[in-house]
Parts: sequence; structure tokens; C-alpha cells
Amino acid sequence: MDAKSIRRRQEVDDEDGIWKYVFGFTEMAVVKCAIELGIPDFLESQQQAVTLDQLSSALGCSPSALYRIMRFLINRGIFKEVEITPSTEAALASTTPSAPTSGYVQTPLSALLTRDGEKSMAAFVRLESSPVMLAPWLKLSGRVLLSSSSGDNNLHNCSSSDAFEAANGKDVWRYAESDPAHSKLIEDAMACHARMAVPAIIQACPDLLLLHGEVVVVDVGGGDGTTVEMLVKAFPGVKGINFDLPHVVSVAPKRPGVHHVGGNMFQRIPKADAVFLMWVLHDWGDEECIQILSKCREAIPEETGKVIIAEAILTEIINGYELGTIPRMKNNTNTKNSKLQEKDHNNNNSYEVGLMLDMVMMAHTGNGLERTEKQWSHVLTAAGFKSYTVTPTSDVVSIIQAWP
Ligand SMILES: C[S@@+](CC[C@H](N)C(=O)[O-])C[C@H]1O[C@@H](n2cnc3c(N)ncnc32)[C@H](O)[C@@H]1O
Repeated sequence: MDAKSIRRRQEVDDEDGIWKYVFGFTEMAVVKCAIELGIPDFLESQQQAVTLDQLSSALGCSPSALYRIMRFLINRGIFKEVEITPSTEAALASTTPSAPTSGYVQTPLSALLTRDGEKSMAAFVRLESSPVMLAPWLKLSGRVLLSSSSGDNNLHNCSSSDAFEAANGKDVWRYAESDPAHSKLIEDAMACHARMAVPAIIQACPDLLLLHGEVVVVDVGGGDGTTVEMLVKAFPGVKGINFDLPHVVSVAPKRPGVHHVGGNMFQRIPKADAVFLMWVLHDWGDEECIQILSKCREAIPEETGKVIIAEAILTEIINGYELGTIPRMKNNTNTKNSKLQEKDHNNNNSYEVGLMLDMVMMAHTGNGLERTEKQWSHVLTAAGFKSYTVTPTSDVVSIIQAWP
């Protein structure tokens, strides 16, 4: 191919690629539609492939519209179409040869979209596709501008540096307090991730809570208590405290081995041998993280206690450009046994998810962000921790264990 043809080929690829961004929302919307219709649940409940007629009459759908939804999702590996061969008895009983028909079956991806499955992510899709969570995305440019008064306000449409607050009138946690249904959506979504993440964490860190004697672990910002219940089950002898805002713990289900405590992590955290925080610190800026981590340090014994942080950790450098704004800290933190090993360079998918989460923090929180190891090191040191280790897991979160 000559240079001109190569250039033209590249242009065609770019022109094709741009549609992904023009219609980027389509994937989420169609997946949400499939969950609302209960397609994954119905296919899961059947022992065999389901024809379009069977599916549309079971779900009360228009066959032609449902066909188009299924065609879209099959093209993305969500559901699969297989040929249905009539059973031998049916073939023998039939007087006329029947044309082969096709039917739909689940795939590993669609199995994650059932409403209540052990690994279901449906509640997470429902949360992120809710009008409350979608509205802040339309105000992202206003969140990025140095001054909300500069530029075209109609275009940026954001009078606050917090896009969620600009869209919904309150920050995400005050909004959740005022809207119990939305709060439940958040807690259900977080529980979905917890059910995926905790087994991966335990596999990566089998001695995470094997401390001396009887151990109490407090899960700070633990939501409905799913995580701490799983930790307590995995580590016999460990007692769990699920600590979250009063409106969250007041409706959390009773869980064996778990005591729910309501409060504000910026004021006081219940005493424990270990503090666990998953997807909490990324909701906050550095100053707020340092305050929370200082309260964590006060909650644990100086000699034997530790803080365990489960968060995505972003790769440090891209093309020589350092992510984040935190300058490299003086290395007064003893990084014991750091096992990060450039995980994200080798695991592009996890890096992609980390970058998406970082954008979610920008859209949904005032100062939240995903951090590099260097940025974590900065906040841990500023909060008075002297050493830490980092362990990657098969989930998007890595585990940081920090000691005072
Ligand atoms: C992103 S969710 C993470 C939930 C849970 N750790 C998980 O990963 O499944 C953040 C949690 O922090 C809680 N939270 C926010 N502000 C808090 C505060 N000031 N004190 C205690 N918890 C707080 C929220 O209610 C929410 O449950």
C-alpha cells in the first residue's frame, strides 16, 4: 500500500471510530433496558435456548423491537444465538420436515446482569444509569474550568466546582441522605462490587486479618455491611463493625458477627485492631483523605494496628507525563515489600477501568480522584503512617496495608 492509501485507510478507521463516541451512551442504555425487561433473568431460568417468540411472550414485549435489542446485545457478546435442533422424538412425531430455528442463551457477560445473582452487577448499572447520576456528566466541562464564570455558561452549565452538586443541588452524600431510594441504589451497587472484590482481596492477601488474639475490624464507609460480613466469615475469630453515616446503617440488614455503628468518619471512628476502607478515600481530595486517615490512625493501637485501603491504583507515568498534581514526596516512608510491579502497564483492562473510575470521581464528587502509588504515599505519610505495602488483586482494587 502506498503512503496515500495508508493515510486514507487511517482516515476511514478514525471516521469509523468516532461513532463510538457519538453514540457512546447507547451501550449503557440498552444494557439498562435488558435488565429492566428481565431478559438475563428469564434466560437464566430456562434450561435451554429460548426462541424470540417465547422470550417476547414471556416478557410481554414487541417481538420486532425485542429482536433489535437482542441483535445489538449479541453483537457485543451479551447473549448468544444458537441453533435449536428438534429433539429426536419431536422430529419423528412431525410429519413435515421443520426448518432449523434459533434461540437465545446467556453468556458469561449477560450472567452478570441478572437481578440477584451472586455476581450480579445489575444494581451498579441501575445506579450509574439513573437520572441523578447521569445529570452531572453534562456538567463536566464546568467542573474542569478554572473559573465557572469564564467561557460560555450555557455550554458549560455548571455554577459549582462539584458537578454532582451543580446538577442535583446537594453533594452526593447529602443527596443520598435526602433520598432513601437513591441511597438504596448506591448501597446495592456498592454491594455488587464488594461481592466481586472481597474474594479477590482474600485470595491476594490470605493473611489480611490474621492478627494477634481476638481481632476487631471496622469497615469505614462500609455501606450496607456486605464487605465486613464477608471478611468476618473468611477470618474466623474476627469481629466486624460496619461504620457509615447514620442514614445508611439505620436501614442496613442485620448480619451475623457484624455490629452496625452510625457516625461521621471526619469526627470519630470506632476503636478496632484494623480499619478497612474500600472505595471511600477516592471520593475525597488529599486534605480530606489526610483527615480521615488521621482518624483511622487514632482508632487503632499504635503498635499492632493497621489500616487497609482497597482502591484502584493508577500507573505512575504515561509517555513521560506524571499523572496527578502531587509532587514526589521525600522518601521518608519505608515501602515494605511493594508488589505493585507496574500491574496496570500489563493489565490494560484494569488501567482502563481505573481511568473510567477517575472520571466518575470527577463527575460525582467534589474533590475525589483515583491516585497513583506516589499520591497514596503522600497522603499516608501526611497522615502519620510510617510504612505500607501494596498488593494487586484480580479485581480493579489493589490493597494498601499501612502501619502507624
Ligand atoms: C463509594 S461508597 C463505598 C461503600 C463500601 N465501602 C463498598 O466499597 O462497598 C462510600 C461510602 O462512604 C460513606 N460515607 C460518606 N461520607 C461519610 C462520612 N462522613 N462518614 C462515614 N461514612 C461516610 C457513604 O455513605 C458510602 O456508603
